[in-house]
Amino acid sequence: MNITSRRRFFVLAALTLSFVAACDKKAASTSKASAPTKALRVGFSQIGAESDWRKANTESIKSEAEARGYELVFSDAQQKQENQIKALRSFVVQGVDVIALSPVVETGWEPVLKEIKQAGIPVVLTDRVVQVSTPDLFVTFIGADFVEEGRRAAEWLANATGGKAIVAELQGTAGSAPAIDRKKGFDEALKAYPNITVVKSQSGEFTRAKGREVMESFLKSPDGKQITALYAHNDDMALGAIQAIEEAGLKPGVDIKIVSIDAVKAAFEAMIAGKLNCTVECSPLLGPKLFDAVEAIAAKQTIDRRIVTGAKVFEQATAAADIKPRKY
Ligand code: AHR
Repeated sequence: MNITSRRRFFVLAALTLSFVAACDKKAASTSKASAPTKALRVGFSQIGAESDWRKANTESIKSEAEARGYELVFSDAQQKQENQIKALRSFVVQGVDVIALSPVVETGWEPVLKEIKQAGIPVVLTDRVVQVSTPDLFVTFIGADFVEEGRRAAEWLANATGGKAIVAELQGTAGSAPAIDRKKGFDEALKAYPNITVVKSQSGEFTRAKGREVMESFLKSPDGKQITALYAHNDDMALGAIQAIEEAGLKPGVDIKIVSIDAVKAAFEAMIAGKLNCTVECSPLLGPKLFDAVEAIAAKQTIDRRIVTGAKVFEQATAAADIKPRKY
């Protein structure tokens, strides 16, 4: 190759390279333009980590956000409503696209929900509902029918005891939707069974430690020896109470029949061991339904005001088989 043809070769190579670079640049800008708009940011105010149910619920929501590529701004309120209100206000300041709220108690939300509404951010209630005078302060409520769960627990107990029992009740967090509704459903259903009486009823705050402590005090009270059945508003409190019953020298599941709510794995283990008799399912796996709602809201589609999750009743007899496919 002489000098002239070598020069021609370099000019041609340079032109080819700059053409390829220009094409690449164009392709990059085209693919950017057709890519989805910015990922949705969802602020989620969670109650805390009081139970196995709650931990599974947090995990379901976090993993679903990740799987769908959304940014989740997560806040754990450690059982305090004031922490939840602070978190909600910070979501407004951060300008999230949607707010998901699992409210620790039913009342006291109206002022902050009005602020959120004014900021134009849609709210989805997950797991628990709030009591507000203006219905448009939230778009939808996704969660179980707690009243129905209470009814199912009562029906199971009536069947298992032939309609005759002296019951101790461990309620959930005072003022919370599941504590109010599970009591309501249970009491309503028991009206048909005059020989079933609830002699003790107190909050065990949905935790094992408190469930154990309150059950211990029930059993030590003067009428504690009459108790033949326990209704716990969640599995964790039932599991704590089982310890107290054993410490009192009694056989849980035999001397005292026990029905609780949630259907977490530890409840199946207790049923297999013969210590718990029945658990009514309340699924914590709300992540997929929550993000379906978030996507529908972002796409300006109308969605149902109430999205109810189903519930099954599980008993000792089938617990060993039922535990196998459990996800939480
Ligand atoms: O709101 C659902 C309840 O909260 C679950 O039954 C309980 O385990 C949890 O802490």
